[in-house]
Amino acid sequence: MTATRTTVRNRVHRFLNLVTTPLVPGDYLDVINPLRPGADLRGRIVARHHETPDAVTLEIKPGADWRGHIPGQHVQIGVDVNGVRHHRTYSVTSAPGGTTFTITPKRIEGGLVSTHLVESARIGDLIQLSQAMGDFQIPVTIPAKVLLVTAGSGITPILAMLRAGLAEATDVVHVHSDRDAADMIGGAEVRALAEAGRMRLVERRTAGQGRLTADELCVLVEDWADRETWACGPADLLDALADRWTDQGLADRLHTERFTPPPRPIVGDGGLVTFTATDVEVDVPAGKTLLEAGEEAGVLMPSGCRMGICHGCLTPLASGTVRDVRTGDLTTAPEGQPLPVQTCISEAAGPCHLDR
Ligand SMILES: Cc1cc2nc3c(=O)[nH]c(=O)nc-3n(C[C@H](O)[C@H](O)[C@H](O)COP(=O)(O)OP(=O)(O)OC[C@H]3O[C@@H](n4cnc5c(N)ncnc54)[C@H](O)[C@@H]3O)c2cc1C
Ligand code: FES
Repeated sequence: MTATRTTVRNRVHRFLNLVTTPLVPGDYLDVINPLRPGADLRGRIVARHHETPDAVTLEIKPGADWRGHIPGQHVQIGVDVNGVRHHRTYSVTSAPGGTTFTITPKRIEGGLVSTHLVESARIGDLIQLSQAMGDFQIPVTIPAKVLLVTAGSGITPILAMLRAGLAEATDVVHVHSDRDAADMIGGAEVRALAEAGRMRLVERRTAGQGRLTADELCVLVEDWADRETWACGPADLLDALADRWTDQGLADRLHTERFTPPPRPIVGDGGLVTFTATDVEVDVPAGKTLLEAGEEAGVLMPSGCRMGICHGCLTPLASGTVRDVRTGDLTTAPEGQPLPVQTCISEAAGPCHLDR
């Protein structure tokens, strides 16, 4: 009986595929219910509010296949800006559970996607989503003493941890830097936790006091070395903390999340890159990634974190050699076997062909 039903269903599905070609029935179902089980993962913006003049919190109802997140993790989103799909990564700012989650983009001067999200994203808009990912998260067994160091939009993954009850669960000191008091995302909420005695909050106003240094942090939080530390902010702050923690033999107690890729120390050769599917050929100079080169040439390139974490930019390298801009390692496609490469951290090392 079950087999008969399955056969009939398969025939109906094949028939619908035939009559609806070039679109398949799933495409029509996506129009009716884009968040249905089995559809590509998307989310609908169901609410938005300004956190600060530059940052907006977007509440998103994810598709049925969303598997939830652990506080501290991020998602990749795909949004159309001027008719072109762009991918960026945003930390989830809400606590787990519930039928929606939030992200909080902060507008960056000249930033394409952040400006779009802050100024133009509207309730009802659909965005493409990945599952939540990343190992910047509080472990299941919460440490007895925690130090949180954040600056600017780097507070976003920490907000999810605080909203999930981190400050109630353990001894927390939070040091946050921002230009002014009004610039702090989630400021009222975090200050209320501190005022209620749940944690110690130290605010650094960079407009008047300048940027926090590792030396100053260690004076502000005398027992810093006894604390498991989570830090998210500009690269120079994270680099300074990494040096200090490493010098003290404590590198494994410092957990960092970077929003921007580290500097590229290696400069390769460059080369003639052919994007075979789109028939585009570009002479790419040394120092430019294949992702940047493709985007500039108008090739639709998939991407996510843009810093080698998520593998969202994998593209088959049909022939040629590419260089990892972080390590200098060379990868050559074996003859006749396209090899997926991360275009966001690869540059051409001579002529190469990409299936894109
Ligand atoms: C794991 C992870 C989590 C993130 N979470 C958040 C978040 O919660 N909230 C948030 O606002 N952003 C977050 N980001 C940064 C976000 O992904 C985008 O990089 C940011 O919104 C800028 O994108 P854009 O398209 O506006 O700028 P682009 O048009 O890509 O870049 C414009 C210019 O800004 C520079 N730039 C890009 N990103 C940054 C940055 N973060 N800081 C300073 N300069 C930058 C570029 O080098 C370029 O010169 C996260 C990034 C990662 C990797
Ligand atoms: S875009 Fe994430 S690894 Fe390349």
